[in-house]
Amino acid sequence: MTIADALVREIRSITGPEACLDTPEDLRCYSYDLFTRGLPELVVLPRTTEEVARVLKLANEAGIPVTPRGAGSSLTGGPIPIRGGISLCLARMNRILEISPRDRLARVQPGVVTHDFHRAVAKMGLFYPPDPASSYFCTLGGNVATNAGGPSGVKYGVTRDYLLGLTLAVPSGDVLVTGGRSYKNVTGYDFTHFICGSEGMLGALTEITVKILPKPEAVRTLLALYSDVGPATEGVAQIMGNAIIPATLEFMDRNFLETVDQLFGFGFPKEVGAALLIEVDGPEVLVGPQAAAILDLCTKGGALTIQAAESPEEREKLWKARRAGTAALVREAKYVASLDFCVPVSAISQAVREIQEIGRRYDMKVVVIGHAGDGNLHPMFFYDPDDPRQAETYAVLEAELVRSILKLSGTLSGEHGIGLEKAQYLSLEKAPFELQLSRRVKMAFDPNLIMNPGKCEWATKTDRELP
Ligand code: LAC
Ligand code: ZN
Repeated sequence: MTIADALVREIRSITGPEACLDTPEDLRCYSYDLFTRGLPELVVLPRTTEEVARVLKLANEAGIPVTPRGAGSSLTGGPIPIRGGISLCLARMNRILEISPRDRLARVQPGVVTHDFHRAVAKMGLFYPPDPASSYFCTLGGNVATNAGGPSGVKYGVTRDYLLGLTLAVPSGDVLVTGGRSYKNVTGYDFTHFICGSEGMLGALTEITVKILPKPEAVRTLLALYSDVGPATEGVAQIMGNAIIPATLEFMDRNFLETVDQLFGFGFPKEVGAALLIEVDGPEVLVGPQAAAILDLCTKGGALTIQAAESPEEREKLWKARRAGTAALVREAKYVASLDFCVPVSAISQAVREIQEIGRRYDMKVVVIGHAGDGNLHPMFFYDPDDPRQAETYAVLEAELVRSILKLSGTLSGEHGIGLEKAQYLSLEKAPFELQLSRRVKMAFDPNLIMNPGKCEWATKTDRELP
C-alpha cells in the first residue's frame, strides 16, 4: 500500500508540515517497540482530537492502514505498523488537562508519560495507582490501549479500574465520547471499559478521564529472600490467603536477582534462589502491624532473611532494581521473549515450576519475575531469532508453555496485550463464537479494517477462516 502524494499533502494541510514525517530516518524512529520492527510510510503527530478524526477519515476513505502509537514501550509488537501506512503517534498530545481533587478525577491527553502524571498528582497529595514497570517512559494512552497493570495491581487494580471516560476518534471521522465525570454511570453500554485493552484496533484515543485517590499516608517495604522458588511462591499464596492485601507482591527468581545484584551491588548471599518484594500502604498506624504480620508469615514460610527498607532511598533503590532489571537483561541476548501469563494465585507455584522445567528441557535460558500477588508472571526467554535452530526451538517451547498455562486456568496476557506476538494463540483460549463476535464488533467501529491491522486473528480473518 502506498500513500498517494495528494493524500500526504492533504494530511499535511491538517496537521501542519512539521507534524508529518516521511524521510527514511524519521520513519525508522517510529518502526520499533521494545523488540519488534516494521516501517510505516508516513508518521503523523497530531495535536488535537479534530486533527486525529480528520486524518482517520481520510485514511479510511483511501483504505490506508493506521497504527496508533504512544511511547513505543510495548513488548508485543502492538504499535508496529506491519502493513505499512500511517504511524499515528499521539506523543505530542501530552497535556494534563485537569486535576480535580474535589471530584477525585483527572483529564489527560493520551501522550502524557505515566510517571509525569504520577508526579503531578502526588504534588497535590493524590495518587493514581496503575504503575506499569515502564512507567518512566510509557504513556497513559498506551496504558489504556493495553489495559496496563504493574506491581500495584494486586491491591489497587489495573488501568481499566480507574477509567471514568474516554474520547476515541474512529475511522468514519466520528468522535465517540464515552462515560464522563461521574463515578457511577450505567447509562447505555459501557464503551469506556470495553475500549480499554482494544490495542488500537477500534480507533485512536484522544482524551482520558481517570479516577484518582488520596495518597496513602505511609508505606513499608520488605524484601524477603528465599533459598528456592518453591517456598517463595508458596509464600505468595500464604500472603494472599491472609486478611492483609499488600500494595505490591513481586516475585523475582535467581537469574533476575543475579543481574540486578551485578548492577546495583546489593550483595545478596550466594544461596538465594528467589525473592519477594512486598509493600503495604495505608494509614501510619496500620502499616507497621501489617508489615509485621507479613514478615511473620514469610519467616514461618522459610524465608532466609527479610530486610525492611529503612529509608525512602533504600525503597527507591529496590524499585529501581526491579524496574531496571528487565532492561538490563535485554543486553544479554539478541532477543528476549517477554511473556505475561496470568494464572490463579493458587497455581503460581506450579506455573513457575513448569516454566523453569520447560526452559531446562529445551536448554534455553529463562528468567522469571512477576506481579505474583495477581498471579501475573513474566517468563523471559533469551535467544537469537536469526539462528533458525534457536528460533524453531523457541517456537515449539512457547506453544507448549501456552498450553500448560491455559491448563492451569491461566490466560495468554495479564497486562501486555496480544499484539503480534500472541495472536496465533487466541483460538486456544477463546471459543469460536467469541472470536466471531469480536470480529463483528471490530467491523462496527472499523468496517474497512484500517485500524492497527494484522494484530489479532479475529480482526483480520473472515468468519469462515476463523476456527
Ligand atoms: C515488568 C514488565 C515486563 O513487569 O511488565 O517488568
Ligand atoms: Zn509487568
